[in-house]
Amino acid sequence: MFDRAYVPALGDRRLTPFYDATVSLMTCERTWRRAFIKQIDPTPRDVILDVGCGTGTLAVMLKQACPGASIYGIDPDPEVLSRAELKARDADVLVHFAKGFAQDTAAARVRPNKVVSSLVLHQVPSLAKRGAILSAFAALRPGGEFHVADYGEQKSPLMRFAFRQVQALDGFANTQPNADGILPALMAEAGFTDIRTNVVIPTPTGAISLYSARRT
Ligand SMILES: C[S@@+](CC[C@H](N)C(=O)[O-])C[C@H]1O[C@@H](n2cnc3c(N)ncnc32)[C@H](O)[C@@H]1O
Repeated sequence: MFDRAYVPALGDRRLTPFYDATVSLMTCERTWRRAFIKQIDPTPRDVILDVGCGTGTLAVMLKQACPGASIYGIDPDPEVLSRAELKARDADVLVHFAKGFAQDTAAARVRPNKVVSSLVLHQVPSLAKRGAILSAFAALRPGGEFHVADYGEQKSPLMRFAFRQVQALDGFANTQPNADGILPALMAEAGFTDIRTNVVIPTPTGAISLYSARRT
């Protein structure tokens, strides 16, 4: 069992209606999402699970990039899930959204060959970061890939300063391990191999790193 409390998209559910606009303005969203889609490289045979899918932006973009791929998204927050469903409907694409936690990917009832996640791990407690990465490993087929786009190590004083805006919203305790660069170590601990930090993109709210890893 795990703690089923969760931090909503912008740290406070009253701010959820402003999530998409805030991410667009404050994260150089177009740049990192495009780079992330390129890294994930969806193909028609892929079954892709987006954990902490939020308002569905990544899941919808993946389906648009590769209509033949099967895309699933889970998130514990019903409010973002209804926004995600609306987004998929507006884009006229089929994405399967369901309620679920990153620590329990079995809730999605799929056996993905790629698990992806964007902007989720920085805002969950350390125990949940571990649980989410272990659960991604357990869900993946052998040879499967894990892709993460998130605030990672904040190397420069400028990026550490910029990241304080995220820390003010999402809490210091949950976010600081990411800023200290914990994610690759947690992936290794879970059993992933070929762990890479492919790109680091400076944004007005801190550096966003694109990681990949493999379940061998
Ligand atoms: C900052 S939003 C990111 C949403 C989306 N992935 C994106 O790229 O825009 C973080 C999301 O993680 C979800 N979340 C929080 N704790 C979670 C958990 N333990 N498991 C899965 N999702 C979680 C929140 O409900 C929220 O939708």
